[in-house]
Amino acid sequence: MLVCSCNYITDKEIREVITNLLDEDCWQLIVPAKVYHAMEKRGRCCGCFPNVVDIIIQTTEEYHARRHSTDTEIFDFMSRLKQFHEENRRADIERRQKGHRAA
Ligand code: FES
Repeated sequence: MLVCSCNYITDKEIREVITNLLDEDCWQLIVPAKVYHAMEKRGRCCGCFPNVVDIIIQTTEEYHARRHSTDTEIFDFMSRLKQFHEENRRADIERRQKGHRAA
């Protein structure tokens, strides 16, 4: 399924990059910009980023389920990951609203 129409990136390509990043360090916090940087792409309109965040969370959960990480490790990490993305999402909305007001 096409996720990013600006760069023609599918969900399968995004999942592969996320898995490779997790293979390097399974506890790192992955953001859409890190995924796109690994693919040598850039967010243009960034309209796909909320969907990329959902794919990151889902892929990370599945990765740790396969890796047999402990429930405590997974819960702590997923809580941090979701909080991190939620804060980024809120900051993004605030930035857009400020930009809209200034225009
Ligand atoms: S849809 Fe992905 S950057 Fe525009």
